[in-house]
Amino acid sequence: MNLTGNTILITGGSRGIGRALAEALHDRGNQVIITGRDAAALEALCTQHPGMTGLPLDLRDHASLTQLANRVRIQFPSLNVLIANAGISRPENLASGQWNSHDAEAIIDTNILGVLRTVATFLPLLTQQRHATLMATSSALAFLPLASFPTYCASKAFLHSWLVSLRHQLRHLPVEVLELSPPYVQTALTGAAQASDPRAMPVEEYVQQVLQKLERGDHPRGELLLDRDQPRRWAERDGQYDALFALMNPA
Ligand SMILES: NC(=O)c1ccc[n+]([C@@H]2O[C@H](COP(=O)([O-])OP(=O)(O)OC[C@H]3O[C@@H](n4cnc5c(N)ncnc54)[C@H](OP(=O)(O)O)[C@@H]3O)[C@@H](O)[C@H]2O)c1
Repeated sequence: MNLTGNTILITGGSRGIGRALAEALHDRGNQVIITGRDAAALEALCTQHPGMTGLPLDLRDHASLTQLANRVRIQFPSLNVLIANAGISRPENLASGQWNSHDAEAIIDTNILGVLRTVATFLPLLTQQRHATLMATSSALAFLPLASFPTYCASKAFLHSWLVSLRHQLRHLPVEVLELSPPYVQTALTGAAQASDPRAMPVEEYVQQVLQKLERGDHPRGELLLDRDQPRRWAERDGQYDALFALMNPA
């Protein structure tokens, strides 16, 4: 992916990783459109970054996605990069005796169906461009689950598998399919504490590394994964799955 001169739509662009990507890509001379439910956050970011556009989107609401698509087709017909990044995460205690599927359904609706709906909505526009990129955010946890986040990890494993098939099906079209699999990053994904957790990677540092990898084309099989997460990615192949699972999920 060329890092300049694109028209880029980022879901979940109001905060966290999406916001940092939006700012970095805006600085590199791209037309960036950020979306999310928090209108005030979108507006504040666009004021800070003249030229950036904020458009409302609730991924769980079909009408909202249709409205967004109609507007983008008219206002930004040259859209050539989609970053389907929005997601939510919640811990679940399946053994509590009180577990119900409410959070799991919200995660599946946002992280899986939300991404599928977004891709279905914008793929026709992307395929009209000479070169396009479709990136979706999974997680390093797609390859090895953190058991206290069962549905979240499974949603990212779903995305990983789905993107492999999407990439294969689009192989004769000029649409590059990338999977962004972040490590633990300082955002408010699981609550305010994560944003300052010293064990998590600062978000700007993470995004800089991602842009460097994109610049070098360093994403084998379309996978944008930090080097330090390769052992998790290949744990099963390398016979390390049980050991790494035990490390991440002490008995
Ligand atoms: N941070 C990490 O450690 C980490 C690690 C691996 C993967 N990831 C993935 O990275 C992506 C971004 O997460 P983050 O860490 O940046 O979290 P974040 O700071 O909580 O940002 C999440 C973004 O998603 C948007 N969003 C959530 N639900 C939405 C909905 N129903 N409709 C539209 N937008 C919605 C939010 O905007 P509004 O609230 O304004 O709608 C926000 O912009 C997620 O897919 C996450 O799973 C994060």
